[in-house]
Amino acid sequence: MKKAVVAASAALLTAGLATAAPAEARPGHHKPGHPHDGATSKITEAVTVNGILRHLRQFQRIANANGGNRASGLPGYEASVEYVTRQLEQAGYDVTRQEFTFPFFQELSPTTLTVDGSEVENAIFTYSGSGTVTGPIVPTNDIQVPPGPEADSSSSGCEAEDFEPAPAEPAIALVQRGTCTFEIKVDNAVAAGYEAVIVMNEGQEGRTDLIAGTLGNPKDVPVTGVTYQDGAALVEAGTPTATLTAEVEADPDRVTWNVIADLPKKALKKVKNPDEVVVVGAHLDSVTEGPGINDNGTGSAGILEIARQLTATGIDRKLERPVRFAFWGAEELGLLGAEHYVGSLTDDELDSIYANLNFDMIGSPNYVRFVYDGDGSDGDAGPAGSAEIEKVVTDYFDREGLAHAPTAFDGRSDYGPFIEVGIPAGGLFTGAEGVKTEEQAETFGGTAGLAYDPCYHQACDDISNVSTKALHEMGDAAAHAVVAITTAKGGLYPLADKPGHGKKPGKKAKPGKKGKGHGHHHGRGHGHGKRR
Ligand code: BES
Ligand code: ZN
Repeated sequence: MKKAVVAASAALLTAGLATAAPAEARPGHHKPGHPHDGATSKITEAVTVNGILRHLRQFQRIANANGGNRASGLPGYEASVEYVTRQLEQAGYDVTRQEFTFPFFQELSPTTLTVDGSEVENAIFTYSGSGTVTGPIVPTNDIQVPPGPEADSSSSGCEAEDFEPAPAEPAIALVQRGTCTFEIKVDNAVAAGYEAVIVMNEGQEGRTDLIAGTLGNPKDVPVTGVTYQDGAALVEAGTPTATLTAEVEADPDRVTWNVIADLPKKALKKVKNPDEVVVVGAHLDSVTEGPGINDNGTGSAGILEIARQLTATGIDRKLERPVRFAFWGAEELGLLGAEHYVGSLTDDELDSIYANLNFDMIGSPNYVRFVYDGDGSDGDAGPAGSAEIEKVVTDYFDREGLAHAPTAFDGRSDYGPFIEVGIPAGGLFTGAEGVKTEEQAETFGGTAGLAYDPCYHQACDDISNVSTKALHEMGDAAAHAVVAITTAKGGLYPLADKPGHGKKPGKKAKPGKKGKGHGHHHGRGHGHGKRR
């Protein structure tokens, strides 16, 4: 974004002293030196916090006018689709709505669990059924209290034999997190005759909190999660009598859309390598619990503003490879829009995707500058090419003197279906329910011991739940990455290096299905994780 020195040179320009302006302020006259920053200062100056905030305010208005959310399958999402479509069309893009159906789910009233007359804190699982069940809570015969030595020591409910046959009266099964998907545990409980399921966390460090997950597919019985401690108390109580009440709306095939914006025809014709498409994505949907301004109004508004400024500055006519802006639907129910998109591509189309850049949460109030860990310095690497993408971003931050940290490709956002088929990926993230450490507070500022986003997946994720400083820094880094990668002569890596090119090793008939139905816990208990 514009720096003070640039604003001053603009003043000189109006005073008729154009030749006195510093080189980097004049369009098309960028200082060489750093390979990419000179070439991208035009976009980082054009993309401003105010430009991004303007879209965020519109998303807030849309949520306010539509029941407080922008969730796929509900009117606030459709209004968001209309808004970004209008903006992109006005900016000259060729915009398509890619329609798909998905299993819609929302909790209609707070789920209650009452045991021997007192309420137990719980969090409904995505795709739970509705209903009230009163009966004994029967633990699986392999529950581990105290917990086993490590994560996934427990395989509670993974086998049919883990369940005592349900008594004749209605009964509630108690299963423990670990080893297999929540869906398998619930299906086994139902097969054994149980009419509701409680999932307790596993109990090791990092696995004690309230657990909320996704079952992947709609179920007929109520399913809710509890903390390890509360679960252990239920085990110790023998078979206490409980009442579980859940009220949800589920629709197996509700319609929603991805919004896909391709370069204006004129610009596309000038692109040197038309079959090296850079897909720049952000999910446009919110959870049903709130307006989703940080998650993921910020990513959506960020790439929308980058798209607008790309054509406004004319950079779109100087690209080496095409950019495609994608606003994904139904991310919050399991990356469903991105999965649909990747699954809809032909082999040739898949081979023509050069990279996927993902922006999911780039304005967290207690932020860290996380960059997706393409080179695996912090765990598993991304597909070949991801390291080069990561370096584009980290080199930028280094030049700006801004600290950054790697974040693993953990499958919790829309790059998931892309990396699964071997497409190089990268992008930015400023943190969700995770808690800032002392070291991070020293490096990045903010508050140690507090979540990066204390309103993650909640009603308070509103227009006040963003750091404009984060938006500024991350907006610029994102704009830089988009332009650096689409304008790099010769590319960051040869396309042939990309696994596949007609022979992708990891490619499956139905890309993106792996891991579906897995779940993991969230500190706040409002997530919809895919992992176990
Ligand atoms: N914005 C989050 C992604 C996220 C959250 C990444 C926390 C890393 C840490 C995203 O919208 C989200 O909520 N994803 C789901 C997973 C998805 C498969 C339903 C999640 O993490 O619960
Ligand atoms: Zn989310």
